[in-house]
Amino acid sequence: MELINHRPSKSGGSDTTAPQGAEAAEMDAAPVSDGDKKRVFIKTYGCQMNVYDSERMRDLLGPLGYAPSDTPEGSDLVILNTCHIREKAAEKVYSELGRLRPLKEAKEAEGSSMTITVAGCVAQAEGAEIKRRAPVVDLVVGPQTYHKLPELIAEVHRGTGQSLDTEFEVEDKFDVLATPERQIDGYSAFVTVQEGCDKFCTFCVVPYTRGAEWSRPVDQIVAEVRALAAKGIREITLLGQNVNAYHGDAPSGDEASGTWGLGRLVRHLALIGGIDRIRFTTSHPRDMDEELIQTFADEPKLMPYFHLPVQAGSDRILKSMNRKHTAEEYIAIIDRLREVRPDIAISGDMIVGFPGESDEDFEATMELVRRVNYASCFSFKYSRRPGTPGAAMAGQVDEKVSSERLARLQALLAEQQEAFNQSMIGKTLPVLFEREGRNEGQLNGRSPYLQAVHCDAPLELIGQIVNVEITGASKNALAGRLVPEETRAA
Ligand code: 5AD
Ligand code: SF4
Repeated sequence: MELINHRPSKSGGSDTTAPQGAEAAEMDAAPVSDGDKKRVFIKTYGCQMNVYDSERMRDLLGPLGYAPSDTPEGSDLVILNTCHIREKAAEKVYSELGRLRPLKEAKEAEGSSMTITVAGCVAQAEGAEIKRRAPVVDLVVGPQTYHKLPELIAEVHRGTGQSLDTEFEVEDKFDVLATPERQIDGYSAFVTVQEGCDKFCTFCVVPYTRGAEWSRPVDQIVAEVRALAAKGIREITLLGQNVNAYHGDAPSGDEASGTWGLGRLVRHLALIGGIDRIRFTTSHPRDMDEELIQTFADEPKLMPYFHLPVQAGSDRILKSMNRKHTAEEYIAIIDRLREVRPDIAISGDMIVGFPGESDEDFEATMELVRRVNYASCFSFKYSRRPGTPGAAMAGQVDEKVSSERLARLQALLAEQQEAFNQSMIGKTLPVLFEREGRNEGQLNGRSPYLQAVHCDAPLELIGQIVNVEITGASKNALAGRLVPEETRAA
């Protein structure tokens, strides 16, 4: 029997296909001893929220006896946590499934099994189609239901069905995820504070794959960040598809406030001992408020790096993208941010070749990029996503034209990024060392502006924030030397 559990979304709903057997399933969740260890390989595609989700899946599966594995070979469970934002991302998943097939067959030939799960946004968008195209898949689980993995996997093992679970109940997810202890790697951690999006940019699948916008309550976030600080995390990055639209329930004791915005949340998290750096991503120009701008001015723990996608520089294209802001409005936000925090590094996302984009529209994008002067910026060729309004628009741009535009844009962005990095030479920057570098005796870390920094330094400085004098710069990284100990940052 095929088990389908696809409930309507909160934002209006789609088809509901009974039976909803997943709820009835018993959990196969007894803790196991080390001798019973099974292995799980999780491959993550796409954005930082997928990285966070993958880590939480690993944390959920740990108590069930699954130890993380670096390779799919010989694993009992393989999870592909997928991204659907551009066409190539989805195609990569299908090729990976092709590579997994012989590994699964090898496991079966040994009398054992490999459960293959597709999670994330491709799972949400394609649902049952995945199992049709790739019968090797046992389980399809959307981004809002992966907290049910233990019970869904148990069902697959009991042979009660090959499951698909792509409902949209984000609150339940965070309640469940609050339970298992978070394993940490290093000194920097992601914390999802908001999910989903109601903006419906006409090129984007996110409102369909991640669902309606929703914010986690402040108390829940504080508890997670406190626990991370207790484990030695020094830097947190707050995640949300529309993170600056954050409006979570105020904490207990301040119920009168109703909800808090992102600026207030950041200031509150900055009070947690041990947390020295706070970042957040990704923001939308329409959701910028003065409190958040002021937080950049007066909260030193909020790092001077801000990712604010604009997507295009032509007002005509911005309108057709349903961005609900103009190029000038975007630039006014950047100017205001630079007024209150002159050193702020600006990052963005750009799309070239959106339907109807003329040479003149593209020149407007180039002009905006010159005006903003990005420290770093991601740029993409428009990818036609089925089901989005953009896919049906007239004036789809020729592939060759898009490629030429992308090359010109990327050359300009590379120049700006390199110039930004070069401007650091001679400065002393506090660097959070995260790991050993490629060369012996070298450590790698991050500057406040999110640049990678390499520096000769002793191992005991891993996990510390240390002043480094920048001596060299390339497009992708900085090199530096430690400043004498007496002048180091705390
Ligand atoms: N084509 C190309 N780029 C896209 N993005 C989102 N959807 C598409 C698409 N259909 C880009 C946007 C967004 C980033 C995460 O991915 O720039 O900000
Ligand atoms: Fe996609 Fe636009 Fe929402 Fe960003 S704001 S997630 S680009 S729909």
